[in-house]
Amino acid sequence: LSSTEVDLTPVAVGQSITVVWQGKPVFIRHRTEKEIKEAADVNVAELRDPQTDASRVKKPEWLIVVGICTHLGCIPLGQKPSDPRGEYDGWFCPCHGSQYDSSGRIRKGPAPLNLALPPYEFKTDTSLKIG
Ligand code: FES
Repeated sequence: LSSTEVDLTPVAVGQSITVVWQGKPVFIRHRTEKEIKEAADVNVAELRDPQTDASRVKKPEWLIVVGICTHLGCIPLGQKPSDPRGEYDGWFCPCHGSQYDSSGRIRKGPAPLNLALPPYEFKTDTSLKIG
């Protein structure tokens, strides 16, 4: 399948799901107000891979990223409530300790780039098409 359709209705604020798109894990996070604010308040000039949060999302409450660490391709932790999420309310890669923030941007550790963004569109407020 070249595209993946996702019903967002069951994904509550603060929850994440993983879907598969073209064989890759895609993380979909329904961000909290705190996560949105943290992502927006970052000084972009200090980032290794400088991108504003606004350039990485289409709707502030939904972060959609490819769940593959940009270092050597492990799958970062942070999807389950019990997972470590690192110091930036995002994801923690267990392989070599890279930490991503609540916008999926690299903040610490060896990874060179932010988590990639898949192509996607909202067909309705609760229906997402990836790819
Ligand atoms: Fe993620 Fe190395 S693969 S830190």
